[in-house]
Amino acid sequence: MKVTAETFSRITNLVESRITPKRFLHTLGVLQTAVELADIHGKDVWRASLAALLHDSSKATNVNEDAKKFALVFGDHPYLETEMPQLLHAPAGAWWAYAELKVDDGEVLDAIAWHPTGHRNPSDTLLILLAADYCEPTRDFPGVDEIRAFVRRDLRGGVKELLRRKLEYVQNTGRPLHPSTQETLLSLEGE
Ligand SMILES: [Fe+2]
Ligand SMILES: [Fe+2]
Repeated sequence: MKVTAETFSRITNLVESRITPKRFLHTLGVLQTAVELADIHGKDVWRASLAALLHDSSKATNVNEDAKKFALVFGDHPYLETEMPQLLHAPAGAWWAYAELKVDDGEVLDAIAWHPTGHRNPSDTLLILLAADYCEPTRDFPGVDEIRAFVRRDLRGGVKELLRRKLEYVQNTGRPLHPSTQETLLSLEGE
């Protein structure tokens, strides 16, 4: 998919006005990493850019309403059936992108809607977003440099490894985990 420089600049300004400066800095980091990964691995740079720019655009809005609207048009979304409100910004952001910004690329909307966990048979854009969201330059935790190098060398292998680490982390900390994370990993391992 192709987006003009004007459209991209307009969307960037709108996103900046909807989220905190800290979240916007994270978004720029994800954008930078997503573009780099798409370029290295010969994937669609525009799709990766748009998905990255928009992935957290609904962090500070009425997520419940928008997530429900997304599910109404695009089909049930499991994030709506769990007690994990922190995930709802994903389908809500996809709805905002679709309804307000007229982003109509299915792969981009899907990547935004599922970026916290992934899903079975993830697209290239979703893989790039999972990787970039995890290891963009402002992320700082033990092992992040290893994942940065891994996803640049081997996108699928690197995403598998970061999903394994996410699972291990939640198991160790007792935090709740949405089952879609495990499903994404099993699907990649089964290829
Ligand atoms: Fe997010
Ligand atoms: Fe994010």
